[in-house]
Amino acid sequence: MRLDKFLSDMRFGTRSEMRKAVREGRVTVDGVRVKDPGSAVMPKSLVVLDGEPVTYRGFEYILMNKPAGVLSATEDPHQTTVLGLLGPGTRRDLAPAGRLDKDAEGLLLLTNDGALIHSLLSPSKHVPKVYYVRLSRPVTDGDVRTFAEGMSVPEDETAGNARGRAAFTAKPAKLVPLNGPGERPDRADPGKEIRELSPNESLKAPDGGFYEASVEITEGHYHQVKRMFAAAGNRVLYLKRIAMGPLRLDEDLPPGKYRYLTEEEINGLRINGA
Ligand code: URA
Repeated sequence: MRLDKFLSDMRFGTRSEMRKAVREGRVTVDGVRVKDPGSAVMPKSLVVLDGEPVTYRGFEYILMNKPAGVLSATEDPHQTTVLGLLGPGTRRDLAPAGRLDKDAEGLLLLTNDGALIHSLLSPSKHVPKVYYVRLSRPVTDGDVRTFAEGMSVPEDETAGNARGRAAFTAKPAKLVPLNGPGERPDRADPGKEIRELSPNESLKAPDGGFYEASVEITEGHYHQVKRMFAAAGNRVLYLKRIAMGPLRLDEDLPPGKYRYLTEEEINGLRINGA
């Protein structure tokens, strides 16, 4: 790889800034001062810029708590994307491993490891994803059975020409009510610190409350969780992904913030996904 690309990939500056730094003699490679920005370097070369060693990280893995209102996309001419939330020092060639709806929150893996993304999203891998939902009506035993059996989900008529709007039969899903009828988690357990999906009051259940559940699915159809609950005559008021394969969303990671995966998490993903 070219030396200027090596440096700009590691976010030490733009490609032209890095070319200038090399020409100014601020860079050594394996102990030798190099002034040609096009010099070839290997990922393992010892590159030093202004006295600072630059370690080449080929792949980067970031776990973001996606906030509502932001697109799970790499770029968009009009709207903020998850990549737009990354600060300086992060690579720009990352992509989300799967999408969350614009109004959804929670765990989003961003990486430039395309093989891992492909494998995590591959339907044959059945990588489990767990969502916390707030609903307009309580979950019944019948709902739990219907989800477990693999329910029919009708076409999404609100989806325009969106790919994935077609009807499908969901694979068995694990639905766990987190509170029963009559229990009011929003009042009984205000300490959950989970922001409402929308300040729009009409999104609340008719009695002003909501009911909580978690649901685990192993596939990723368009608007899948919302459509499954709609097919069961319920309505998702708030949706947050809390787990994907071995990854768990940190409870103290605020929406819009992110952190790098640990080696252990990366290895866990490879075992589960790849
Ligand atoms: N299911 C949904 O309905 N929306 C998401 O963002 C993810 C899963």
